[in-house]
Formats: sequence, structure tokens, C-alpha cells
Amino acid sequence: MTSLIPLCSLDDIPEGGSRGFQHGELKLLVVKHKGKVVAYRNTCPHLGIPLEWVEHQFLDSSGTMIQCANHGALFVIDSGKCVAGPCAGRKLEAVPFRIDANQLLLIGD
Ligand code: FES
Repeated sequence: MTSLIPLCSLDDIPEGGSRGFQHGELKLLVVKHKGKVVAYRNTCPHLGIPLEWVEHQFLDSSGTMIQCANHGALFVIDSGKCVAGPCAGRKLEAVPFRIDANQLLLIGD
């Protein structure tokens, strides 16, 4: 049966910014960009390590791409697709969620 797990309020994520979360074993990052929200596992597709060095900082200096702090790899915010760096062509794994009453709810099994 599907469960909905409250993660945060959308107000916890600044517009044009990102935040990292840990829910049990799951590490994830959430980005709010141009009013749209995306969530991915905080795991680089090529080494399986977290993307950030500084807590909650997952975006490049322009704020328009997700960036791996370890290698500078760049990922498209909307799709999670890596377009530059050692994992080019691969994708961040999307975390299913839904938004209800301004709350971000993870969709579990
Ligand atoms: S760990 Fe894979 S691009 Fe940095």
C-alpha cells in the first residue's frame, strides 16, 4: 500500500535554492526553481556518493544547474540529467513525491 511521508513545508526551501534531507536511509535533495519543485536521491550516478560539500548547497554559482561539489558535474534541474562531468548522459534518481497543502510528501511503498 502506498504511504505518504511528510518531509517539509515548501516554505522551507527558498525559491531558486536547494535543501538536503535525510529520511531514514534515504538521502535526498530538493530544489525549488522557477516555482517548480524537484526531488532526487542525493547520490551521484557514477560514484554513489553525496553531491554536496556544504550543507544544503546543491546548485552551481548561477543557480540554474545541480552540481556535484566533488567533480563539478552539472545536472539539469528539471530532469536530473548530467550534461557535463564524469557521469555525462546519466541521471539523478528522482524521488517520487506529491505536494498537498504546501507540504512536500514523499510517496513510499
Ligand atoms: S561523484 Fe560523480 S560527478 Fe562527482
